[in-house]
Amino acid sequence: MFLPNRHSDYRKPLDPLDAEALGERAAGEAGRYLSFRDNHAPTPLHALPVLASELGLGTIHVKDEGFRLGLGSFKALGGSYAVIRLVLEEAGRRLGRPVDVAELHAPEIRAVAAGMTFACATDGNHGRSVAQGAQLVGARAVIFVHSGVSAERVAAIARFGAQMVRVEGTYDDSVAEAERVAAEKNWIVVSDTSWPGYERIPGLVMQGYTAMVREALRQLPEPPTHVFVQAGVGGVAAAVAGHLSLVLGDRRPVFVVVDPARAACLFESARAGHPVKIAHGEPTVMAMLECYEPSLVAWRVLSRAADAFMTIDEEDAVAVMKRLAHPVGKDPAIVAGESGGVGLAGLMRAATDAEMRTALGLDETSRVFVINTEGATDPQRFAALVGMQPDRVAIRAEGARA
Ligand SMILES: Cc1ncc(COP(=O)(O)O)c(C=O)c1O
Repeated sequence: MFLPNRHSDYRKPLDPLDAEALGERAAGEAGRYLSFRDNHAPTPLHALPVLASELGLGTIHVKDEGFRLGLGSFKALGGSYAVIRLVLEEAGRRLGRPVDVAELHAPEIRAVAAGMTFACATDGNHGRSVAQGAQLVGARAVIFVHSGVSAERVAAIARFGAQMVRVEGTYDDSVAEAERVAAEKNWIVVSDTSWPGYERIPGLVMQGYTAMVREALRQLPEPPTHVFVQAGVGGVAAAVAGHLSLVLGDRRPVFVVVDPARAACLFESARAGHPVKIAHGEPTVMAMLECYEPSLVAWRVLSRAADAFMTIDEEDAVAVMKRLAHPVGKDPAIVAGESGGVGLAGLMRAATDAEMRTALGLDETSRVFVINTEGATDPQRFAALVGMQPDRVAIRAEGARA
């Protein structure tokens, strides 16, 4: 399914609050915080010349977030950034002076952090980021996961010293439970989605993601003409679309939001003209995108800055994982988890469909940018889906880095 953006706010300037959270200065600040992380290095940007030529496009570049901060996904940029910011702000209040990130490991800052507990609900990757941020500053993290989150993903979060809480039910149930318990215990909820009255912290999470866009613009030979980004609650899509529209202005690329057909909350919101909660259906293989209600802040940005919304099917997501794992010709091998290649799968659909191709102006001069948002964050699952021995997955991931 495909829908051009017909919202009445389409192409209007971003809300000033969102412009402040996603602009050049905000991305610079998020980037500066990153430079204080031990395991920070820019993630690779790969060109896919063979696939670009097959699809009749100029270039395709993939930013490979499988290598982000040792966590396997771009989510490493958001939750941990918000945790660090919130600790520094609290320390500033207690010490009565501004506190810079350079002081993060000072004993008086760590003493403040030690008294703070951060909570969130997660499908996997966001919780890993919050837990890592809390461990870095010496705070406590309590992470709520629903019944569908695999044991492997739970173990990957617990590794950062977080307390794990299993919640019977869906992602929404885990969000509600995290909020309930956090309110009772006076913990701070660091959510990657926003709702009325809860916008600032998810805004910080999105600000963290802008560091990736800034990094990509520095790596790309030229700014892209088209960008396809996958959506769960829409946070990363909004961070990318918002940042690009703020820094590139009239030269901004055509921006397409890609949802799984089984969890198409952004697509359905675009169709309705306002944020909607959709009914739960069958689970999708794109586990990290299984969200049924968009983030309010993300919707506010995307209703203005996205040009189109589309969905892809289960088999598209698996086909793109296989194509990236077993590339053709000179294209490099890329390890893309179940939700990682969804933006690229959207491009492959759009470029091979005459109507979408024309509507989006895709042709042999197009320079397309997509993000592999995760590596094999669940290696067993990845291996089963792409037809690889589990013990080969880590080796392939190392190879893709080269
Ligand atoms: C790997 C991956 N890709 C994409 C997304 C979608 O991000 P958002 O929920 O901000 O739309 C997520 C969310 O958890 C994710 O983990």
